[in-house]
Amino acid sequence: MTQALITGGTAGMGLSFARFLAAEGCDLVLVARSRQRLEATANRIADEFGVDVRTIVADLTTDDGCAEVGAAVTDVDVLVNNAGMGLGEGFTGASLDREEKLLDLNVRAVLRLTRTALPAMMERGQGSIVNVSSVAGFGPIMPGSTYNASKAWVTNFSESIAPLARRKNVRVMAFCPGFVRTEFHASANIPTSDIPSWMWLDSDAVVETAMRDLRRGKVVSVPSLHYKVITALIRHTPHSILSRIAERASAISARGHIH
Ligand SMILES: NC(=O)c1ccc[n+]([C@@H]2O[C@H](COP(=O)([O-])OP(=O)(O)OC[C@H]3O[C@@H](n4cnc5c(N)ncnc54)[C@H](OP(=O)(O)O)[C@@H]3O)[C@@H](O)[C@H]2O)c1
Repeated sequence: MTQALITGGTAGMGLSFARFLAAEGCDLVLVARSRQRLEATANRIADEFGVDVRTIVADLTTDDGCAEVGAAVTDVDVLVNNAGMGLGEGFTGASLDREEKLLDLNVRAVLRLTRTALPAMMERGQGSIVNVSSVAGFGPIMPGSTYNASKAWVTNFSESIAPLARRKNVRVMAFCPGFVRTEFHASANIPTSDIPSWMWLDSDAVVETAMRDLRRGKVVSVPSLHYKVITALIRHTPHSILSRIAERASAISARGHIH
């Protein structure tokens, strides 16, 4: 029986990962801050799929939260570093405290949990780590947003450690979706009314792609053809040109962000 730990497993893509893995018979450890929602989600999944679901109430922006979850990741076969946050304001608008929380959750928690889980997986000679990044991490396409930078770190970090892990039969993959319908934008006060409908992806569908790409051995997974094209353009356009486009788009970007 395999066991997976999913951070932010009660909503959005974390919940989709939880349901996907439970449907395959995988036992789960779900992590989030809201105890009530964690327990309700765990009970629902356990009843529906007949798997064992443990919960850890933890805030991964804190040292204590990371330490508590860190103690649980040494035994798991699959780690999904999914919990992440955005900010509704640009760099000079958001408080330093909120910027640091974004870095703690999007970067530091991913670093810490991976640092604990990976050596244990490598010693056992099996395991998988999915780090949920974003299309936004491929370039400086959102002027004034540090979210891009945090996700650039997640993607680069995953690509950097994947070859090391692969030597011991462990997979590490950065998962980079575009806009996905979840609670994310409302939680961060990011307006979405200007985002065209074709840019929105379905959470269950992108997670299915992520799991397929993971099993195919991909190191970076970008779901949907639209976003594969967008990502290729961002990756191959010189950054001087991207910066100019981003500056011109800043008025639009102030109203809607790719997270
Ligand atoms: N939605 C998008 O368009 C999109 C696109 C690309 C990438 N992403 C990335 O995908 C990941 C998941 O996003 P989502 O859209 O699925 O988010 P979501 O719907 O807002 O769900 C967030 C989940 O994370 C938990 N969480 C939030 N802050 C936490 C913290 N400090 N400690 C522990 N758990 C925490 C939440 O539960 P509690 O509130 O109870 O803690 C919830 O379970 C993030 O890394 C995000 O950056 C999202």
